Amino acid sequence: MVHNLSRVVAQDKHFLNIVNGRPVAALSQETITVLCPSDGLAFATIPAGDADDVDRAVRAAREAFDRGPWSRMPAFERGRLLTRLGQLIEQHGDELAALESRDTGKPIRQGRADVAAAIRYYEFYGGAADKIHGDTIPFLDGYTALTLREPHGVVAGIIPWNYPMQIMARVVGAALAMGNTLVIKPAEDASLSTIRIGELAIEAGLPDGVLNVITGYGREAGAALSAHPDVDYVTFTGSPATGTAIQQAAAANNRGVTMELGGKSPQIVFADADIEKALPVLVNAIIQNGGQTCSAGSRILIERPIYDEVAAALGERFDKLVAGPHDADLDLGAMINPAQKRRVEDYVASAAEAGIDVIARGSIDAQAPTTGYYVVPVLFGAVDPAAIIAQEEVFGPVLTLFAFDDEQEAIRLANHTDYGLVAGIWTRDGARQHRVAKRVRAGQVFVNAYGAGGGVELPFGGFKKSGHGREKGFEALYDMSATKTIIFRHD
Ligand code: NAI
Ligand code: MG
Repeated sequence: MVHNLSRVVAQDKHFLNIVNGRPVAALSQETITVLCPSDGLAFATIPAGDADDVDRAVRAAREAFDRGPWSRMPAFERGRLLTRLGQLIEQHGDELAALESRDTGKPIRQGRADVAAAIRYYEFYGGAADKIHGDTIPFLDGYTALTLREPHGVVAGIIPWNYPMQIMARVVGAALAMGNTLVIKPAEDASLSTIRIGELAIEAGLPDGVLNVITGYGREAGAALSAHPDVDYVTFTGSPATGTAIQQAAAANNRGVTMELGGKSPQIVFADADIEKALPVLVNAIIQNGGQTCSAGSRILIERPIYDEVAAALGERFDKLVAGPHDADLDLGAMINPAQKRRVEDYVASAAEAGIDVIARGSIDAQAPTTGYYVVPVLFGAVDPAAIIAQEEVFGPVLTLFAFDDEQEAIRLANHTDYGLVAGIWTRDGARQHRVAKRVRAGQVFVNAYGAGGGVELPFGGFKKSGHGREKGFEALYDMSATKTIIFRHD
């Protein structure tokens, strides 16, 4: 059977940006062709926004912020509008899942999972909007001091292509709940769901200018947005190199930033672990979304007595993994673009050349279009912790195994990269669970579980090169606002 990739999304759709509550083309009229990673074929266009488009969107967001009513609206009313947006996303769930899946190449069930998570973000932040309180502070006799959480103003959200719908939702939910207005710049490789949800936001009744969407290349639209002097705060998820560029641009205006910059996240498997429970989770943590996940579990540290057994069991599972078109819904889809496919293949080739043992390889579905950007999943064993493949974020379905002899060594290896985003610990020993969880440098630590995606309530973010600031949960509401202290004298 040849997979019919065109049945869910209309061909040749020309998507527009959203500025001040209205759909608009780029001022230059330029567009970017949208390719489906599953077959490399064009099926839509998006505006190629540049500095002029960014300026128009920032001005709309600024006016909406200064004019009100958004930032002065009772918080529960802002929350209601976010909740309504979540309901509209639910009503359009099938359409959005299909759109996301086709735009990114991810299996359709992952598109559906992304829709479910997005709905949860809007519900969560819709409900949280009126639950952020300030403090009263004991001060001098004759005084009362209190704090308010105030919005920054205009927030810029620059988001990546791996989970656009989810990452948009966590940015929009937290920023708008606190009364900011927003300009979102999705990635040039995956902008469609952001545009579509921008349209739904108009339908939900968000005031004009509160949520603006500008598509375009990072070096043009992204750079202009992060450098714009009228942007008050920047939140970014993506690569460390781009994160540095964005921080430098924001620093020129002395603006605050939240940075989520990926990871090289370890899972530690002790000899007393429930291996049967761990195995599917260990595989899924690197295969989900083809490994193009900031929180991917890309390193497995295994206690030596069970190393051979766990390596063999993972190998059996890797042998059976199949990559294929998004609507075939196999283990994994295509990589986002040819550059990402090359990047993954180059990492694999240089690790193999360096003599690192390949324990197992998956395959590419025989029916998959040869023009798609597929890569073969690879399991590497007995990796030198200093090797490139052990240190750098591959962002593909490539898993590396390491053996360790005791708890101290496990902790040392877990912390032995520049990153610190997520970690997993597999052991039945309760005291060890607590000890290791405290010593691992990661923003989220899972014990006998793994998977950062679904938990919208759970603060998320990194140490070290993985970034700073926290998204998700109530924590994000603090990043998306600033404390104002008010001091009354009444003696
Ligand atoms: P990137 O970090 O360059 O792109 C992410 C976003 O930043 C996109 O919206 C892009 O248009 C924008 N951008 C790019 N250059 C910019 C600039 N100078 N100023 C402002 N915005 C800019 O990531 P890229 O190049 O697509 O992927 C390269 C690698 O980055 C991947 O292989 C992966 O290792 C990592 N990455 C990590 C992600 C994560 O979730 N932590 C997400 C995407 C990529
Ligand atoms: Mg795409």
